[in-house]
Amino acid sequence: MKSLKAFSSVLFAVGSLLFATSAFAGGPDVFKAENCTKCHSVAAEGIEAAKKPYQRDLSAAGAEHDAAWLAKYIKKEVGIPNKAGEEKMHKGKFNGSDADLGVLTSWLAGLKTPVAPPAE
Ligand code: HEC
Repeated sequence: MKSLKAFSSVLFAVGSLLFATSAFAGGPDVFKAENCTKCHSVAAEGIEAAKKPYQRDLSAAGAEHDAAWLAKYIKKEVGIPNKAGEEKMHKGKFNGSDADLGVLTSWLAGLKTPVAPPAE
């Protein structure tokens, strides 16, 4: 009986650990909750875009930009210069909390997998 009791407390500990982990919203959760998947996939993480054909993939979002820049970009505070040298703002706008923005951009900044562009 003693060992059964020990076993159930181990189960309880594992269960609470699992619960704590799932309660934490990670980068991919925020990414989906903020509808980034409307226009983006992240093939390297197995995240598909809602609309097919696949739109712009962000598997290498962190290769060129750091979290601070990404945060400004998705809040439309900075844009990307186009060929004519004009600043082109992002199409989507992030409307979530600052905490979610931090989780999202630190996750994006860590994405550095080059993915081949989709075949036209
Ligand atoms: C309405 C469609 C749309 C939505 C929604 C959208 N994006 Fe984008 N995003 C684009 C397009 C299009 C580009 C390519 C640049 C451009 O043409 O503006 C882009 C580019 C990017 C880039 C790449 C910048 C670079 O290095 O070239 C990042 C990072 C990004 N989006 C993140 C996000 C995140 C995070 C979300 C969710 C909060 C999001 N996007 C939602 C359309 C969208």
